[in-house]
Amino acid sequence: MTTAGPRARLVAAVRILAICLAATLVVLLVVMWWGSLRPGAYSLTEHAAGHGGASGGVSVADLTADADRAADVKVELTARHETVQLASGASFEGYTLNGATPGPTIRATQGQLVEVLLRNEDVAGGVTLHWHGVDVPAAMDGVAGVTQDAVGPGESFVYRFVAEQAGTFWYHSHQISHEQVIGGLFGMLVLAPAEETAVTDVVAAVHTYPNGIRTVSGEPGVMHVPAQPGDRVRVRVANTDNVPLSVWSGAPFVLRAVDGGELSQPPPIEGKRVTLTAGARVDVEVEIPASGGVSVQLPGASIVLGADPGPAPQPTEILDLLSYGEPTDLPFDPEQPDRSYRYDIGRMPGFIDGKPGFWWTVNGKIGDDIPMFMVKEGDVVRMTITNGSGEVHPMHLHGHHMLVLSRNGEQATGSSWWVDSLNVEHGDTYEVVFVADNPGVWMDHCHNLPHAAEGLIAHVMYEGVTTPFMLGHDTGNNPE
Ligand code: C2O
Ligand code: CU
Repeated sequence: MTTAGPRARLVAAVRILAICLAATLVVLLVVMWWGSLRPGAYSLTEHAAGHGGASGGVSVADLTADADRAADVKVELTARHETVQLASGASFEGYTLNGATPGPTIRATQGQLVEVLLRNEDVAGGVTLHWHGVDVPAAMDGVAGVTQDAVGPGESFVYRFVAEQAGTFWYHSHQISHEQVIGGLFGMLVLAPAEETAVTDVVAAVHTYPNGIRTVSGEPGVMHVPAQPGDRVRVRVANTDNVPLSVWSGAPFVLRAVDGGELSQPPPIEGKRVTLTAGARVDVEVEIPASGGVSVQLPGASIVLGADPGPAPQPTEILDLLSYGEPTDLPFDPEQPDRSYRYDIGRMPGFIDGKPGFWWTVNGKIGDDIPMFMVKEGDVVRMTITNGSGEVHPMHLHGHHMLVLSRNGEQATGSSWWVDSLNVEHGDTYEVVFVADNPGVWMDHCHNLPHAAEGLIAHVMYEGVTTPFMLGHDTGNNPE
């Protein structure tokens, strides 16, 4: 008979310890996995209740435009799933509105009531329309499972809102948006100022379809626009893709507006490019020279006004909107906020609805653990957005415009820089402020839509506002 030596006993002890650790880890993972499983149906109101928010009051469905006011602009849009043929002859499986993609450009004048009847002919997953950058009443925001139910095949929905803003906007489906938007379910919305202007305008929706072809308002690569020397042309450029783009020209240009917001006293720009983040718009104004034409360019796309001057190389220097134009007075004090929040973007491994992954985080949380940003009507809300996630994120807040106060500690000194879509690079810290003047439940998410589908979504919820709409597998609502 032999007894185990001290070495053998140590080995046995280490083994037992390792087995215990492994077992604990497995139990932990199972608990995390189990905890991440989503119920078949749940509402953001219940979610907020779990985070110290949401109680009684108004349903988001009741936050509509004046029901008794007649429409000034009426549009009908029919969504279809079909094989889309581009002008170049290339085709892909996608989506159309009234048989085309982009859908028709909707034009209205500031102050008018816009009414859009959306019909879904045969898009199996359902559709909605979100008015990107327009601060519509909450019930009209078009987010499936948050402000309405997805519109199923054979169904319809009426959107009504007063165009309080003037500027360049766009609309897109907010149901399975990471697939439907790239596939074609979008269009442009131009809200003209009430006063007439002597400038012609051109709408340029830059979009890369699932077949990889970059287009400008449906034209592969180049859009030609007739123009005469001496004409002033405002090019309304929208980035409907998932990644940031740059805009430049070989000729001097003026940046008139960002995300629909007119800039104050913008000087001419030469030898610089403008960053146009995903979802964002810029209005670029050029004057056609006596020599012929001007080209407004983006990578793989251009808008040629008049005679083609040929391509200009992309400038390396980026226009800094922190110091472009002249400041104007604000109707509120951004230094006296009623609430201050952080929106820290990161990444970590974990589970969302039982799926393991290396997920985006907001304030260290993933998926449904991301807390609600609760606000009260009238609040001045300050938000510090940081990005330590390793990738750029175009951050988009619904229903409000954010004023950029600083980037990486550098204060804004130029024209008030209002955005609904902000390019937040890895390593950046932005301080922004917005006024909570539009009650509802509002998404505040990354507009790289596959990132949103990977959980980079938070919500701003007003106290006293609830949503009767449900998210989850059993509901048919899937906003990302
Ligand atoms: Cu352009 Cu949440 O959307
Ligand atoms: Cu992102």
